[in-house]
Order: sequence, then structure tokens, then C-alpha cells
Amino acid sequence: MRISDTRNTRTPHEPVFIEDLALLRRRRTFKWQAGELTPDRICLGVAEMDLYAPDFLRETLDQAVRLGETGYGLCEAQEAACEKYLTEHHDAGLAGARCTTDVLTGLRTVLRLDLPPGSPVIVETPVYGDLLTVVREAGLVPLPVPLLRDAQGYRHDWAALADAARAGARGWFLCQPHNPVGRAWTAEEQSQAIALVLEHDLLLLANEVHIPLGLNRRLVSAFADPAVHRVRAYGFTSASKAFNIPGLKSATVYASDRSARALTEMPQSLLGRPGSLGAIATVACYEQGMDWLEALRAALADRVQQVLAELAGLPLAAEVGVPDATYLVWAEFPHGDDADRFGRALAESQVSVLPGAGFGDPGLAHCFRINAASHPAVLSEAFARIRAAL
Ligand SMILES: Cc1ncc(COP(=O)(O)O)c(C=O)c1O
Repeated sequence: MRISDTRNTRTPHEPVFIEDLALLRRRRTFKWQAGELTPDRICLGVAEMDLYAPDFLRETLDQAVRLGETGYGLCEAQEAACEKYLTEHHDAGLAGARCTTDVLTGLRTVLRLDLPPGSPVIVETPVYGDLLTVVREAGLVPLPVPLLRDAQGYRHDWAALADAARAGARGWFLCQPHNPVGRAWTAEEQSQAIALVLEHDLLLLANEVHIPLGLNRRLVSAFADPAVHRVRAYGFTSASKAFNIPGLKSATVYASDRSARALTEMPQSLLGRPGSLGAIATVACYEQGMDWLEALRAALADRVQQVLAELAGLPLAAEVGVPDATYLVWAEFPHGDDADRFGRALAESQVSVLPGAGFGDPGLAHCFRINAASHPAVLSEAFARIRAAL
């Protein structure tokens, strides 16, 4: 069987992508069951990677399952491992960390407990759409502020952000890196963001779920600037994206000095408690996964380049930036009926990606988010079909 064949030919740190489409379609996950009635589908949508679990993780989970460790997770070890990871790899200085089941649960809990009902919260668009949902679920109001786009790529619109703050915004999501455009903020931009938060007494929500996935550089946490401790600030991360374990439900929330006490007092019942497999896996990722992660980042940078080259080869005028981070490619087709043609070609070729209108603004219908974390042969096959359909 292909699973064991592939395993014999590699080193323990080498990420192995799955080439066999029939095997991928058997995966009982959100990504590969999109369009489950389409037998010949290729799924490049939801942010899961088509990877085998790395050896260290498989062994850790195997042992845990053998011992019947399918209980409630222990938070302390995960919190300590996450804090050490963020300090050593992203220069963060934290004033406390707590476990939660996932980033969205952590965000919902913090928003609900830290802001008065009805408060507007700035969300820069295009954005991972569930962030808007979470703001609403917490009884608050999302205040979309579009990112600016120029020849260099996406950046913050400082004037619009200050206007939003003056108009009554009480919180701001700062996504490092920003999903879906893949922009990683520099230390200077993060400091400028914190200065704005301080000036307007906003609640800073630093969404750092993709922070391990800088492609060619190390990303800096918002908690690297000591000034963060003068504002009410929470950060959110997880091993889920970088190690492909969102199904294990384990994430970490951390705080600035000003928010440390509030974080300590947050009921675990609202944050949720990771399952033991999630907590055990997270500790293993942070403690044993760094060589694998480095190799993965290099592989993902290649996959992203492949997708960019494939897009450039289509008979359409795609505008695509090179992401600083993540394995997600944000493709825009602003001219003529290119977006419609691309959409039709996707449907005809049974290739699914995520449509742009789900990223916080119905005006993004000419955009698509393409997940590049697949085997090169799967990506080639997907684009060959799209080209043939155009
Ligand atoms: C920016 C961003 N925030 C949050 C999430 C959701 O994270 P979780 O599954 O831990 O709730 C995702 C998932 O892709 C994401 O991209």
C-alpha cells in the first residue's frame, strides 16, 4: 500500500505530501469532503495540508492511544511549551498563557468577557471570514477596514484605522501573518499598531495562528514589543496550522501585563479544555517538531512558487502577490470576465478552491484563495485540468 511505500524512502524530518488522489479522497476531513459527491474532485480549498503526520507526532499519538490517553488534557505543559516556543522563535514576551480548544473559541471568549456588548471591532479585509462570525457571536459588531493594496502588496491603512478608532471601535484584530493575503507584518509595523492601540485604548487581539509558517523568514510576534504590556492585549496561536492538527483541538491564549489578571480569571469552561491527545501533540510539536517545521517551510515555499507559476501560465490576467507566510495563495482576477471564466473552469474541472466573497467583503468575488499545501503532482493535475477547461 502506498502509505508504507512512501514512508520507507525518506528521512524523519522530511515532510511527505500524499500524491495518490484516491487516498486523499478517502480522508474524512473538511478539506477533502468538499464536493464529496464529485468522484474526480481535487480539493485546494480549506486550510489543511495533504501531508502524512511526521514520525515524531505519529509515535507520540500512537503511544498515547495505546495507553488509552483519550481523556481531558493537562493545560500546564502545553501552556509552558507554547510560551517557550513563542519566546524562542518569535521574540515574544508573555505575561501568562492559557489553554483553549481552538483559536476561535479563545477569541470568542476574550471578546465576550473584555468588551461591552455592541462594541465595534476592527477587522481588516480581506480576512478569514470566521473572524467576522466570531465577533458577532460574541455580541459585538465587526467594523471592516480594507487593507491597502499597491504594487508592493498589502499594507495597513493607518489613516482608516485611526478613523475607525475615533469613530468608536473598541478592539482590533491584528493577524500575523494576515490570512488570506499572506502578508507578514514587520516589527516596525507591529510597533506602530501597538502605538495606535495605546492612543485609542483599544483591545488588541493578535491572531498568530499561522505565525510558525513564515516561508523565507522568521515572523515577529506582536508580543515582541515591550510596549504591548501597556495595552490590553491577547494573542492566540496553535500548532494546528503548522503541524496540520486542527482536528486535535488545542490552542493557546496569551496576554500582556495589562490583561494578565483577566486571563488568569477566565473560566476554563469558557475557554474550553483541549483533549489530552491535542495537548500531548501540541507539546510534542513545540518540543520535537522544529527540524520538520523548517523542512516544511522550504517545501511550502516551493509549492507556493509552483502555484504562482501555474497561475501566470493561464490565459487570464491574474494578479497575485508572493505571500511572506502561509501556504495560501490569494489570486485576483480584476479584469473583464476573467473571474467568471476561472470560476467556471474550476467547476468544470472539479477543482475546488475558496471563493473570495467569503473573506469579509462581497466585493471580493473576483478573488480566490488557493491552498498550495499539496503534492506537486496534485497541483499540476489541478492546473492542467483548469487550463484545459479555459
Ligand atoms: C486567521 C485564522 N484564525 C483562526 C483560524 C481558526 O483556528 P482554529 O481552528 O484554531 O479555531 C484560522 C483557520 O484557518 C485562521 O486562518
